[in-house]
Amino acid sequence: MSFNIFGRVFRFSTWGESHGPAIGAVVDGCPPGLALSEADIQPWLDLRKPGTSKFTTQRREADEVRILSGVFQGRTTGTPISLMIENTDQRSKDYSDVANAYRPGHADYAYDAKYGFRDYRGGGRSSARETASRVAAGAVARLVVPDVDIFAWVSEIGGDAIDPRNFDAEQIGRNPFFCPDARAAARWEALVDGARKDGSSLGAVVECVASGVPAGWGAPLYAKLDSELAAAMMSINAVKGVEIGDGFAAARLRGEDNADPMRPGADGLPHFLANHAGGIAGGIATGQPIRLRVAFKPTSSILVPVDTVTREGDASQIVTKGRHDPCVGIRGVPVVEAMMALVLADQKLLHRAQCGGD
Ligand SMILES: Cc1cc2nc3c(=O)[nH]c(=O)nc-3n(C[C@H](O)[C@H](O)[C@H](O)COP(=O)(O)O)c2cc1C
Repeated sequence: MSFNIFGRVFRFSTWGESHGPAIGAVVDGCPPGLALSEADIQPWLDLRKPGTSKFTTQRREADEVRILSGVFQGRTTGTPISLMIENTDQRSKDYSDVANAYRPGHADYAYDAKYGFRDYRGGGRSSARETASRVAAGAVARLVVPDVDIFAWVSEIGGDAIDPRNFDAEQIGRNPFFCPDARAAARWEALVDGARKDGSSLGAVVECVASGVPAGWGAPLYAKLDSELAAAMMSINAVKGVEIGDGFAAARLRGEDNADPMRPGADGLPHFLANHAGGIAGGIATGQPIRLRVAFKPTSSILVPVDTVTREGDASQIVTKGRHDPCVGIRGVPVVEAMMALVLADQKLLHRAQCGGD
């Protein structure tokens, strides 16, 4: 099994390597008749693209998307939508060290152990360049769930968290960290720049909220909405943890504190007084905002020397040159949003298939 396909009804597959000619996605199962052009996809790719500040990798990619199929006269036809992004700024010679010695924390050894052979240029298929394809597919998914509002932000870098009292959604687009707390963003400038100058890297926590998800999407037990979202987020490169709602903090609450009390709402639907559950109960959306947190580990490709072994099994040390993100969680924000959209588009169509409705 190759596992390059995600989703059940609204499905996508990504293809391509970091230093190949192009990368892309094929979206299958998209409903027909949706207005779709490159202009619906490009703004999301622009948020993820590299080289936009000194706090991300200096690889320069325009990340311009082309729609090759599945759209006629500006509308989706219901056939596979093929999206392509050309790679233009590869520098494969930077990766000669990685060809022979494994970067601890990266996928080099694991890929060799599995396949016996790997494209080491820029990390090949294990490069997060692949996440551009997800963002492109996610932009199509957003069109399937137009009433759902999805947004994500960085809430912590290198152990330094935002102060929730300073949360201002307007700030997210105003600094290079997708940070909703202006004071934290100012601190992170020095923090991330310091790590970069040290040739090191930092981890981060990304939070995401999806509001407007109607009660009922999701499924009980083996495809709980929680587990679908966790799988989607854990499939992102460098993600090592996902919490839904209060997550691990719920384990420290008493039942009455963890419950989300309900009162009759004006619209005939229950009005919840809290959202510890993150908008999901029994694997099914409650109609409350869906909330999750994603932990990104620090970038493995660093200039600080790390003990390793070569392909021949000899002891060695590796210093990873090339252009790398000092904190991958920053550019992870649009990727988390895309995976949220991709799961929710699939859930909408799955719910409709079983229960009917719009
Ligand atoms: C947006 C984004 C950018 C990334 N940039 C880098 C990078 O510049 N250098 C690097 O070593 N890893 C980077 N990563 C992480 C690697 O792709 C990832 O660690 C690798 O594929 C191994 O997979 P794993 O960490 O999930 O085990 C990035 C991840 C994301 C989501």
